[in-house]
Amino acid sequence: MIDAHAHLNDPAFFDDLPDLLARMREAGVEGALVVGYDLPSSQRAVTLARAHPPLRAAIGVHPHDSKELTDEALVALRALAREPEVVAVGEIGLDYHYDHSPRPVQREAFRRQLALARETALPIVIHEREAEEDVRAILDAEDGWALGGSWHCCSVDAASAAEIARHLFIGIAGWITFPKSENIRALARAVPLECLLIETDAPYITPVPFRGKRNEPAYLPRTLQMLAQVKGIPEMDVERTTTANVRRAFPRWTSVEGG
Ligand code: NI
Repeated sequence: MIDAHAHLNDPAFFDDLPDLLARMREAGVEGALVVGYDLPSSQRAVTLARAHPPLRAAIGVHPHDSKELTDEALVALRALAREPEVVAVGEIGLDYHYDHSPRPVQREAFRRQLALARETALPIVIHEREAEEDVRAILDAEDGWALGGSWHCCSVDAASAAEIARHLFIGIAGWITFPKSENIRALARAVPLECLLIETDAPYITPVPFRGKRNEPAYLPRTLQMLAQVKGIPEMDVERTTTANVRRAFPRWTSVEGG
């Protein structure tokens, strides 16, 4: 299985990355997409992916940090996008829950990074919170759906998710294990397995029964198990299909080591 979204570039992991990678392997997690959220974390994602072949990198500026997407930062991201370890532009999108950057600034940063993805022929990793309508409108206007990639930690309603899944893979995170998250289980039932990815979003969204601890890729099997239970499909089949889905969502994944 592959963790389709983890921030191993986060300071939370600076002290124990080798141990974390060993635990990940022991848990049967064969790879992880390390996702950038600003320019330094995008650079670290590439460095990590280069040093540790089971990892790949996504580069981009998170909606929270949209203010930091200066012309210079965009030039630096464009250069990074050429590195062979980079398989996607992300995470990008809109977050109207926290509004850490003004909404017009978020929208402009989203548009500019969609253009970057188009230019570099890379798929995208979408972050959306309380902004579904505007994310969809910008993807429509910028022909963003055609880029492919994932809508990560997806929490839209089940019917919307099924519709989005015609264009982008839907990321299922540890929320699916939370007793209250019936909406995520409904979403997982509504979307075909062929359109789903599993992800930790480490260090966030720690699954049951590890809640309260820092999340890490070694906990991904909890999400896989719950997804299998919810869909009534054997774990082995969920593992095989979601792993194949990662390579379909991010076609450059295989090109680094051919495996
Ligand atoms: Ni994330």
